[in-house]
Amino acid sequence: MAGEKWVRMVTAQTPTNIAVIKYWGKRDENLILPVNDSISVTLDPAHLCTTTTVAVSPSFDQDRMWLNGKEVSLAGARYQNCLREIRARACDVEDEEKGVKIAKKDWENLHVHIASYNNFPTAAGLASSAAGFACLVFSLAKLMNAKEDNSDLSAIARQGSGSACRSLFGGFVKWIMGEAKDGRDSRAVQLVDEKHWDELVIIIAVVSSRQKETSSTSGMQDSVNTSLLLEHRAKEIVPKRIVRMEEALKTKDFGSFTELTCADSNQFHATCLDTSPPIFYMNDTSHRLISCVEKWNRSEATPQVAYTFDAGPNAVLIARNRKAAAQLMQKLLFYFPPNSDADLDNYVIGDKSILKDAGIEGIKDIEALSPPQENKDALRHKDGVSYFICTRPGRGPVLLSDTTQALLNPQTGLPK
Ligand code: DP6
Repeated sequence: MAGEKWVRMVTAQTPTNIAVIKYWGKRDENLILPVNDSISVTLDPAHLCTTTTVAVSPSFDQDRMWLNGKEVSLAGARYQNCLREIRARACDVEDEEKGVKIAKKDWENLHVHIASYNNFPTAAGLASSAAGFACLVFSLAKLMNAKEDNSDLSAIARQGSGSACRSLFGGFVKWIMGEAKDGRDSRAVQLVDEKHWDELVIIIAVVSSRQKETSSTSGMQDSVNTSLLLEHRAKEIVPKRIVRMEEALKTKDFGSFTELTCADSNQFHATCLDTSPPIFYMNDTSHRLISCVEKWNRSEATPQVAYTFDAGPNAVLIARNRKAAAQLMQKLLFYFPPNSDADLDNYVIGDKSILKDAGIEGIKDIEALSPPQENKDALRHKDGVSYFICTRPGRGPVLLSDTTQALLNPQTGLPK
């Protein structure tokens, strides 16, 4: 094959996910095996996703990767583990159109180029590594004609970043912690697809933050080593919550879903506080968002919105339906109005139809909003929130057949 000039490419798109029952703590750092099961909702890739193009050519002399246009090193153990595992599963490939034949054994000597792009700011702290590693593994599996199903692939993506394994499916997904020492049974399965509970609307408040947060990886390591609450949570609390959450999802019981989601987010943050040294992921704005939702839920006969926070101050708010989402939008924009000079168009992004449902077309509509019924003395806070993203539960990974969406040049295999 040496001297040949062909480039074979595959492009895929993979969603991000947010846990409603959190993963926090590993029992094996290298294989990334968790101390408890977790459950997440996959977010609509139209608003939050990673696109990855992977290419192979006999003319490439090393594995290379570009993230959002900048070359990054693949030397880290997490990348190396994923590349090794996926190469071990490569099969014969025959591309008649290009006249390319790659035998299973050739893959050991062939190098790959990888280009990855997030359609949301990496700095926003929205689980970019989850979508990124899921997309890397999914696209390489397709390039190399691996026969594994998405659950098998999730056990490889897991070795890139734990939460990545849940991005191999749409809808609601469970990461089963597993028991095997080699991690073979620590993998994701889909609980229900994205159509099962399609009334749900998700609004993410991207909270302004100046401080650099402790990474999930080192934070959870400290929690495992120092927090007694984590041990209790993993052994006694989460297993029962998982059973109840699965039931709530199956029966679309929003009341139970909300109770479990909020309690689990709060307990995860309590565990962070119980860590030595303590970890603070939420800030004043996060606490105000919790209070806004708690007050509203308590004033209604049944809960309207669930909230959950990951390793950062951003709130993920899950509304029971469009009507509740429109009302939530009005409350959020009352509490956290954009600066008068800011362009509303950039302040609420994603599915803007929610804004329309809320009757908000411009800054003057926001200024005219009255305080929420349940909190008449509420104060308005400018500057707490950078922007809101309106989205919904979404689908799992897909291959993009439209070659114009590829991130690598089909002739050179270098970024376009
Ligand atoms: C708070 O998956 O980022 O988002 O496995 O070390 O890469 P590593 O950690 P990561 O941790 C995610 C933690 C969380 C909760 C969750 O997604 O379940």
